[in-house]
Amino acid sequence: MKIALDAEKCQGHARCYALAPQLFEIDEYGQSSVVGDGVISPGDEERAALAIANCPELAIGEIEG
Ligand code: F3S
Repeated sequence: MKIALDAEKCQGHARCYALAPQLFEIDEYGQSSVVGDGVISPGDEERAALAIANCPELAIGEIEG
C-alpha cells in the first residue's frame, strides 16, 4: 500500500496526524505531509485507511495497492 497527500487540498484539520502520527507530519503552518515515500508497512495499513477516511478535505488517497 502506498499513499499520497494533496497539499493543495489539505486545510490543516490534522485528523490524519491524530489517527496515525507515525505516518504524517505537520509543519508550522498546519500543513500535513506523508512521512517518507508514502509506502505503508502492513502493520500500519489500518491506520492509513482510517486517515484516508477521516480527512474532511479528501486530501489523502491510496495511489498503489
Ligand atoms: Fe490535512 Fe486532511 Fe490531515 S486536511 S492535516 S490531510 S486530516
